[in-house]
Amino acid sequence: MLSRNQTPGVASNQQCDTYAWFSQRAWVEVDLGALSENVKQFKQFLSPSTQLMAVVKADAYGHGAVTVSQTALQAGADWLGVATVPEGIQLREAGIQAPILILGAAQTPEQIHAIAHWKLQPTLCSPKQAFIFSNILETINYASPIPVHIKLDTGMSRLGTNWQEATEFVQSVYRLPHLTIASIYSHLATADSPDPAIMQEQHQRFETAIAQIKAMGIKIPRLHLANSAATLADRNLHYDMVRVGLGVYGLSPAAHLNHQIRLKPVLQVKARITQIKTIAAGTGVSYGYQFVAPKQMRIAVVGIGYADGVPRNLSNKMQVLLHGQRVPQIGAITMDQLMIDVSTIADIQEGEVVTLLGDQGQEQITADDWAAQLNTISWEILCGFKHRLPRVGVV
Ligand SMILES: Cc1ncc(COP(=O)(O)O)c(C=O)c1O
Repeated sequence: MLSRNQTPGVASNQQCDTYAWFSQRAWVEVDLGALSENVKQFKQFLSPSTQLMAVVKADAYGHGAVTVSQTALQAGADWLGVATVPEGIQLREAGIQAPILILGAAQTPEQIHAIAHWKLQPTLCSPKQAFIFSNILETINYASPIPVHIKLDTGMSRLGTNWQEATEFVQSVYRLPHLTIASIYSHLATADSPDPAIMQEQHQRFETAIAQIKAMGIKIPRLHLANSAATLADRNLHYDMVRVGLGVYGLSPAAHLNHQIRLKPVLQVKARITQIKTIAAGTGVSYGYQFVAPKQMRIAVVGIGYADGVPRNLSNKMQVLLHGQRVPQIGAITMDQLMIDVSTIADIQEGEVVTLLGDQGQEQITADDWAAQLNTISWEILCGFKHRLPRVGVV
């Protein structure tokens, strides 16, 4: 583990210890102090009776699932949320014992065996899936009931049984052997919108379904509905647990929610300058000559490209940070390398580190900036960094 100010060349974290990370041309730095602080901020924002699930699917949104999960749990997260069975197994193999909910669907015999073996907790999306689960557990004579989480579709039109059929669904799960209901939940489609109308309609549907289930006399240990945006937007959506992904990684899900808590971005992307050269006016740069030098320029080659997750569509649009200043990227971003204009920076050396996402001095470039340039969302930017980039934990 490195401190932010340490000179590269000292240590590596557990997720990249097969690499001497300091000899890497490019890497993702994961600020575990910021991660801890973000988790604590959310815990303080919640009432003491509301649990916090850190959503660590997709390799913790590209940050490295094991280190992030360990850090988030230490900072006070109560649950972990993953998308797939292998993601859950990865955490169990790392020795993590906290409850893990699989937010995606699992239904093959192999997946169900693994869920039972690794003590993961599945989402059930339909009576049919519940029946398959119970049958497979019967065939392997599984002794204790598996905690399952019932997913209702209140308007996302993704996984889950329609909220109007909630009572039948819950009854069918309740009657099956080998399954015990651990929670009922739903997911919101528009929680990051400044207009709360659809979110509140989903909330109402959830409330109606829960009231009907309670009227049957079935005890439900836990209800949950909110992602990061809903957690920040409306305390009435917190129920017994909130499922926070983006916020844990220090980004706000929407500008109108920024004021609610102070978050710090966890991820930085850095790469080294591999060569510096002077080019004459009229010289083309990179494939297709999308950039032609308008005057004599000093340019630097940086060892990171689209195969590492820097979107090629940012070519000629993005900036990077060097010596605390913003400098423009020029020409097409290539698979492993990109070029920057360093004409305005004095005394630069090959081997120096450029920040693509992160901060230097007073300057900061965030995943939100890239997302805005690409007309996409910060979630996609974070998940886009490839495994060729080692994840380096800093404190
Ligand atoms: C079911 C579910 N809950 C919670 C989350 C976390 O969402 P966010 O990253 O917006 O907090 C996700 C992420 O997509 C999800 O699919």
